[in-house]
Amino acid sequence: MTSELSLTENQRNYRLAVVPGDGIGPEVTQCALAVLDAAERAFGFSSTRDHIAAGAKHYLATGELFSTDIEQRLRANDAILFGSMGDPSVAPGILERGFILAMRQRFDQSVNLRPVRLFPGVKTPIVGLTPERCNLVIVRENTEGAYVGRGSTVHAGTPRAVAIQESVNTRAGVERVVDYAFRLASSRRKKLTLCHKTNILVEAGKLWQDTVNDLAARYPDVETDYVHVDAMCFHLPISPERFDVVVTDNLFGDIITDLGAVIQGGLGVAASANLNLDGCSPSMFEAIHGSAPDIAGMGYANPAGAIMSLAMCLAHLGEADAALAIEAATVQVLGSMEGLSGPSMGGTTEQIGQQIACLVTQMSQSQEPPLAGLSIMSGIKSTSIK
Ligand code: IPM
Ligand code: MG
Repeated sequence: MTSELSLTENQRNYRLAVVPGDGIGPEVTQCALAVLDAAERAFGFSSTRDHIAAGAKHYLATGELFSTDIEQRLRANDAILFGSMGDPSVAPGILERGFILAMRQRFDQSVNLRPVRLFPGVKTPIVGLTPERCNLVIVRENTEGAYVGRGSTVHAGTPRAVAIQESVNTRAGVERVVDYAFRLASSRRKKLTLCHKTNILVEAGKLWQDTVNDLAARYPDVETDYVHVDAMCFHLPISPERFDVVVTDNLFGDIITDLGAVIQGGLGVAASANLNLDGCSPSMFEAIHGSAPDIAGMGYANPAGAIMSLAMCLAHLGEADAALAIEAATVQVLGSMEGLSGPSMGGTTEQIGQQIACLVTQMSQSQEPPLAGLSIMSGIKSTSIK
């Protein structure tokens, strides 16, 4: 165990913004912070945490969303741990667009990295699927496409209403994400699949396919493949082994990563990293699940997604040993659970978090490398900052 003295002596202190948000966000974030406490003691680093109030309650009381003030506070940090946002008390879209999408766009978090990894012992609804066959990463473009919020409605509220929703795809925006995906594939099993709908969305589809074709010349070691998004919904659950790195646009990525989460055991276990690639703004780490207001405060939420997202955050900051230990501890606890959410978890949210935190401490004292070769963290550090 690291002493107080050595903690103050070492230089590895990270500034972390913590945004617990709404619904189950605060409870899973609290678990992630308990695991972070254990990891800091075990691996000899520290963090200065700035807890930021945001979300439905805060919005209803103050009207504040992603304000300049909040932006500046977040910017002062090395990374952001994010719980979740959304509540029935606020109309759909206000918090999602006004905070989450605003943050991704303002901080230029162009890559949304979402690993789809079935860990040993974790129950999947896909009959016969084994961990060996399910280890891929979805790279979702995170600042453009249909999420730019452009569009208009004429004759609103009348039978002649016309709604136009635009999808914006820039060559520069697509290229940086495709290039990231190539680098990630090059550090993994060397296969990159573009997922789109080029037979119907011919304008955007051509821009994406041309970009992949052009960049492929720079990465001769990476094999490229293409799958339509509808076909992806068929292939992903049945033959995930076909995929190593999948690159796709914002909307398709949003949809297929929920499917990916189900394959790996459910939304509660899936993690993500929203990466700023040039290091000019902080990256943000969040579980894929939403705020699940129906189960908030009941102790039914699985904290694994939030804890795995913390592991991705630490991998990104360069604390690879701690990240691997957290991942291995989470996998071990998940593997011992009867069910992956609700009362069948065999413990409350807080208890599951405590189990994982204890295991992190134990693992740091063991000589065995945790989960060799299985990490969802592979390639994050080497590809996340240019
Ligand atoms: C996600 C979520 C968000 C998105 C919402 C909450 C804005 O579904 O991170 O996948 O659409 O990106
Ligand atoms: Mg989503």
